[in-house]
Parts: sequence; C-alpha cells; structure tokens
Amino acid sequence: MKELTPQSFDSTSLSPPQALLERLKDYGQEDTLCLWEELSPEERELLVRDLESTDLPRINRIFRCSLQFQGLPAAAIEPVPEGSVSTVEERTLEDREKWWKLGLKAISEGKLAVVLLAGGQGTRLGSSEPKGCFNIGLPSGKSLFQLQAERILCMQRLATQSNDVGFVQIHWYIMTSSFTDDAIRKFFESHKYFGLEADQVSFFQQGTIPCISKDGRFIMETPYKVAKSPDGNGAVYTALKYSRFLEDMASRGVKYVDCYGVDNALVRVADPTFLGYFIDKGVASAAKVVRKAYPQEKVGVFVRRGKGGPLSVVEYSELDQSLASAINQGTGRLRFCWSNVCLHMFTLDFLNQVANGLEKDSIYHLAEKKIPSVHGHTDGYKLEQFVFDAFPYASSTALFEVLRDEEFAPVKNANGSNYDTPDSAKLLMLRLHARWVVAAGGFLTHSVPLYSTGVEVSPLCSYTGENLEAICRGRTFHAPCEITF
Ligand code: UTP
Repeated sequence: MKELTPQSFDSTSLSPPQALLERLKDYGQEDTLCLWEELSPEERELLVRDLESTDLPRINRIFRCSLQFQGLPAAAIEPVPEGSVSTVEERTLEDREKWWKLGLKAISEGKLAVVLLAGGQGTRLGSSEPKGCFNIGLPSGKSLFQLQAERILCMQRLATQSNDVGFVQIHWYIMTSSFTDDAIRKFFESHKYFGLEADQVSFFQQGTIPCISKDGRFIMETPYKVAKSPDGNGAVYTALKYSRFLEDMASRGVKYVDCYGVDNALVRVADPTFLGYFIDKGVASAAKVVRKAYPQEKVGVFVRRGKGGPLSVVEYSELDQSLASAINQGTGRLRFCWSNVCLHMFTLDFLNQVANGLEKDSIYHLAEKKIPSVHGHTDGYKLEQFVFDAFPYASSTALFEVLRDEEFAPVKNANGSNYDTPDSAKLLMLRLHARWVVAAGGFLTHSVPLYSTGVEVSPLCSYTGENLEAICRGRTFHAPCEITF
C-alpha cells in the first residue's frame, strides 16, 4: 500500500486526502477528519501523520474480538488447588533458609534479571510525574524508584558477600510508555541512577493504542490527535521482544526474570527466597499472592479454569458476587482467596514463548473510563493486555503467599482517598521497619501515637530486617526518622 506522506497531500486543501478518507471509511473512523476545515496546515499534517501511523485493520480486529470475548460467560472456575500454593503457615524456617540460599546462589551466578512495569499513566494518583518518581512522604523523601534501586544495591551486596565469584550485578529492565519515558529517563539520569551503574539499567517502551468510544469510534484528544493510552502492562512480552531485550538477557546468561509493578512501596525486588522457591518448584511461572482481605476487595484472584485447567487471574469485576463471598466449609476461609498483587517470576524460556505467541490471540481487556477528549470527558474504552494474561499459557504455575504488612503497600489513589494511598503505603513501611528495629534491640520514642508513625530503615542497610543489630541494639530512635549507616 502506498503510504501517504505529509508531502504527498496538499495541507491547504479544504478536503482531506481522498485515499485516507476512503481507508478510514472502511473501518468506520472517518469522523476523525470531521474538523479538517478548522485545522491549520500544520495541524492537518500532524493529523494525517497520526492516522497514517495507526494500524487500522489491527485495531479494528482487536476491538471487535475483545468486545465479543467480553460478552462471553467465563469458563467454569475452581479454587486454586492447595498444592499449588506455598502458604506462610506451612513454610518452615528450613524452607526459608533453603530458598534464600538457592536464590542468592542463582543471583550470584547472574541468572536473575529484573523487569519493572512503569508504563502506566497513574491517573488515579493524579500526579503529573510518573508514579515511580513519586515521593510518598517518607522521612528520607525517597521516591519509589529510589527505594527499588537501593533494594537492588542491597541484594547485589548480599549476593557478592555470599559467594566468591566477585562483584554481582543485577540487570534492571524498565518498561516505560510514551507517557512516562522521557520523564523516567531524566529522573534516573538526574539522580545518577541512585548508585547503580548506568549501563545496568535499560529502558524500553511499550506501545499505545487508540481509546475507543462506546460506539466503536476513535476518541479525539484534540481536533488533530487521536486519544491514545498505553496498551496495558501485558505489553511487556512483545515490548521485550521488539526491543531485543529477551536476546540481551540470554546473552547475559539470565534464566529467571522477576517482573513487578512500580507502585508497591514494600516490593522486595530480586527476592532470593521467592527465586529459590521458584527454582525448587521447577515451574515456568510464579506469583506472590496475599490473602484477600474481604469478599468485595477490588483485587483480581487466582483461579483454576475448569477441572485440571491452568491457573489464571479473574479480575474482581468479572467475579460473580456469590463466588466472591463463597466460603470453604473446611477452613472457614474464602474459597477464592489468593489475590494477585503483580509480583511475578518467570523463566526466560517462558517469556520467549509468550512473546512469540500472545500477540496472535489479540484479546484485550476493555476498561471503561472517562477519556479526556475534544468534547470534555467522553465515556469510552481503554484497551489493555495484562501481565497476568500469560499465566494460562504456562506449563506450570506456583503461588507463594506473602504477608500484606510485609510486602504489599500499594500506591494507587491520591491522599484523601479511602485506601491504597501514598499515606497508607508510607505508614505500612514505617510500622514494618519499626518492628525490625525493635526486634534488633532498638527502642523508639514518639510524640504521636505509635500506630500513626514508625521509622524508615534505608534499604542500603537491610533488605528484610537482617543485619540491623549493629546499628540498632541499645539505641533509641525518635519516630519518625530514617535509619541509615
Ligand atoms: P495500574 O493498573 O494500577 O495502572 O498499573 P496505572 O496506570 O499505574 O494507574 P491508573 O489505573 O491509571 O490509575 C499496575 C502496574 O502496571 C504498570 C503500572 O505502571 C503499574 O506498575 N502499567 C500499567 C504499565 O506498565 N503499562 C500500562 O499500560 C499500564
């Protein structure tokens, strides 16, 4: 097909290029040109370029398939079989020590890479910066990115000390989108990569996809620009492939990939215990899970699709109310209780398999949103793939329970909302670290009630509360404060 370049049409003409108009008509998108007469020649060029770079047949196919799929009843679901979950209750000290050592050994051998999903727009948080740059109000003022970078530094130190192969480096691959890429790169540069080597951090961009109105038309952000949004964190598989970072990982000897979302202040990046468990189980994919707090909690849960089927995640909006509150008579607990919190481990082989196969399926989730548009806020759909869409394709999946107050402090909504705010995440961290300090023989004083404060332990000192005695024993800290070397 001959491509229309801005030079090949007359941008001063009162009618849009005929060939483009015809093509748009084929897909019911001719309204994108309806304000043509009001545009300046420069705006017309921008609009033509925008529409020409949009793969109309692909978007049309994705939207139709996803709409149809959304209307289908979900296949019968079953609770996750007990044997697929390592629960906190059943885990012994020997298990934890064994997994920690096994994971640390694999990290020392350079077999682990870390992938961060940071392409989201963070609309609910309402910050003008990407979420990872956000300072949740800790005494140190550290951003989410800095906390994560320092956990990587800490883990590199622990891995280096645990073996005699020399300095250990963990490669960090960061997925951005056109909405976050520039700001994230600049943030890392201006903070000198938080002490990491610049060449151990690689950025790659996911794609964007047009936002579509309820009647199937592209929503216009301005008279000359189609409204677009990132195509979901499930874009990570194809984005890794097209950036050639799957090959880059292979060339570095990577076998396992830790993949997580940017907005969890307590995330244990490159956790050796989780990695050791994963290796020990010999599975292709794994997820950390927390127990669902209450039936209506807005989290996706792991389920099994049909008898003997694969594990997959059902979003809260797709889980029937009676199933959401169904109780297991034996245990008295929720039948569907294992919440997905976007903390995953994959083999590199599995990532390759998904990256080469998922795209063909082209089923996207249609998220109903108010989309900023030329007509104010328009009701429409954002089209997204989710990172957990890949689980049903795994030959084996294992779940690893973690405690919320140790590993899950989500930053989703702005302060003032009822839950998952920077303030609630900050408090979870301060309280956890206060417990570490007390366990290490330290004392706390506080001028506000202890439940509303605590202390912050720098990740450079401790990953999960270990090695704190030398700093804390017999010392008194006035909360809130940061404890560092
Ligand atoms: P969320 O689903 O919470 O979306 O992302 P969000 O964009 O951060 O926030 P809202 O919904 O606009 O308020 C969960 C994780 O997935 C990443 C986010 O950056 C976050 O780490 N994500 C989300 C992507 O990397 N790409 C996307 O297209 C969407």
